[in-house]
Amino acid sequence: MYKILTKKELSQGVQLFEIEAPLIAKKAQPGQFVIVRIDEDGERIPLTIADFNRDKGTITIIFQEVGGSTKQLGDLNEGDSILDFVGPLGKATHIEKIGNVVCIGGGIGVAPVYPIARGMKQAGNHVVSIMGARNESILILEEEMNAVSDKVYITTDDGSKGHKGFVTDQLKMLIDSGLEISLVIAIGPVVMMRSVAETTRQYGIKTIVSLNPIMVDGTGMCGGCRVQVGNESKFACVDGPEFDAHQVDFNGLMSRQRMYKTQEAAHECQCEK
Ligand code: FES
Repeated sequence: MYKILTKKELSQGVQLFEIEAPLIAKKAQPGQFVIVRIDEDGERIPLTIADFNRDKGTITIIFQEVGGSTKQLGDLNEGDSILDFVGPLGKATHIEKIGNVVCIGGGIGVAPVYPIARGMKQAGNHVVSIMGARNESILILEEEMNAVSDKVYITTDDGSKGHKGFVTDQLKMLIDSGLEISLVIAIGPVVMMRSVAETTRQYGIKTIVSLNPIMVDGTGMCGGCRVQVGNESKFACVDGPEFDAHQVDFNGLMSRQRMYKTQEAAHECQCEK
């Protein structure tokens, strides 16, 4: 069993849990994820690692309560335990000193971007971060992102904080300012990652996205997380979750996600009974 040491609500329906998991904390790297199962009847929930502390032996996860399982997870409290907490899974982010790195997090996507930005900064890069949200009240980890970035830009859809508009507007402004960008890392809603990929493609800027498709086993056995990258089928759980954004078939990914909407809605109804 894995104990919840800290629970914090970062914004409405967005929870941070610090979990006691020393063996995972020992090995975890930016970009990897865990699969959580609350109890024996629970669905497996893949969540990207938002932070790890090797000394304390903890893993931090941040999740949005969007369906039955994540709502059930959000109902747990400090001192409660989770049955399964498996990881670290997936490939770690390739971190090296390459120059100017732009880290983009959309919504809850800021959570997995944070350890990557920190790793890139520690490797000696100049890190510029762009955080996007629908409005100010759902912005998360602003202080943490400021601590690991040379500069942070905020965009909100309604203009309640930072630039009114999308992360891609800010990215375009950075490119137009003449900043020589060596790498863009973008994590967030699929539509956002697709827009970032379209923006950087025309400038030939290397861009990495982290995909979070439906996952079941997380070990490459079930095929649930299949994504098309270039001309190849890849499994996000073992080949990713990070991929070259210019090769990802985002439209295929979105239609696969839509395929499971009915089942998800049915599951949510059952959980709420
Ligand atoms: Fe089953 Fe990736 S989650 S193959």
